[in-house]
Amino acid sequence: MFKFNFDVDDTEQSTNVNHTTQNQGPTSLQAVVPDAFTELFLADALNSLPSKISYSPITISLASGGELSLPRRDLFDARFQLISQNPDDPDALEQQSINTQSALHFLDAPSDLVPLVYEGGLKTWECSLDLARYLDGISSQFDVSGKRVLEIGCGTSIPSLYILHRIFSSPPSQNQTHIHLQDYNASVLELVTIPNIILTWYLSEAAETYRKSEEWADPPLELNISESLKDTFLQSLTTYGVHLRFFSGSWDTFDLQTLGGNYNLVLTSETIYRMESLPNLAAIMRGACNAEGSKDVDDYLCLVAAKVLYFGVGGGVAEFVRCVRDLDKGGTVETVWEKTQGVERRVMSVKWN
Ligand SMILES: C[S@@+](CC[C@H](N)C(=O)[O-])C[C@H]1O[C@@H](n2cnc3c(N)ncnc32)[C@H](O)[C@@H]1O
Repeated sequence: MFKFNFDVDDTEQSTNVNHTTQNQGPTSLQAVVPDAFTELFLADALNSLPSKISYSPITISLASGGELSLPRRDLFDARFQLISQNPDDPDALEQQSINTQSALHFLDAPSDLVPLVYEGGLKTWECSLDLARYLDGISSQFDVSGKRVLEIGCGTSIPSLYILHRIFSSPPSQNQTHIHLQDYNASVLELVTIPNIILTWYLSEAAETYRKSEEWADPPLELNISESLKDTFLQSLTTYGVHLRFFSGSWDTFDLQTLGGNYNLVLTSETIYRMESLPNLAAIMRGACNAEGSKDVDDYLCLVAAKVLYFGVGGGVAEFVRCVRDLDKGGTVETVWEKTQGVERRVMSVKWN
């Protein structure tokens, strides 16, 4: 029996605390082969969006003081998209892909994790907010513009949304910023990661002219996904030198060469919970930082946000630190931020040997 007992305190999309899952997913989904590394193209994801999406804000208290509100697509809205694509009749249901059935099930229970079926990406986990706050605290020393960024296990991608918010709120620059996002589930990328990025752009200064032109078209907390919005969004990416790529699949199939490696910033949040996955995760991080080719440890920043303990699953900070140390040409882990009250959480920086 698989059992999770995450200590979760998410703000809005799930109210489960000390959530326990006992393989509640459809039994047929338990035996699937792990999803292989695949690129999801932005143009295809844009084409599959419905004509309207709804969203709710999530608030991050910034290291610099003040708060930042970032938009997240509502899960009920993502569910509606899937149902509309797959009408509720038995024949159509039979033909639904495992991915779609799986996504529908987990949209209703976003805290349920079933290893290598659904790994929790639909929900925003609290350490992703810690990581965004930490990025805000170091923003004066570490300028992300013009860098290569990889967010591993991105889910709702709060750290990357923070970075994009900053880029879209600054004047356009000649710098070319590459942001690559990975999640186990392609449906997570399609249903929440990419919509969240569009929403973040839409609410930023970069979209001000567009917003004004459409001012009365969008009801509050809803966004019309028109052809003109898609075109303006893509044009903005070019103007701001932002290059986005999206990858799904399990970490053991992750192909760093295809992605070009050599990242300046590697981010991951709430991904160190499962012992079995730790070596693959650590190996990706090490390869992504191109530790061997790098002469200077300051060439990259490799940040991991996590709870200290994941009850019932075996992973956590101690196991991650040990895994990094024991990896071939491993590294060292330094805590750069921590919360010691209640459920302990950390942001850690990894330096590779
Ligand atoms: C608990 S969720 C955290 C999501 C997000 N980072 C957050 O903090 O809100 C864990 C994420 O790690 C990724 N993940 C976990 N195990 C994985 C594996 N073996 N292969 C690929 N991705 C995996 C999933 O994509 C999932 O989104």
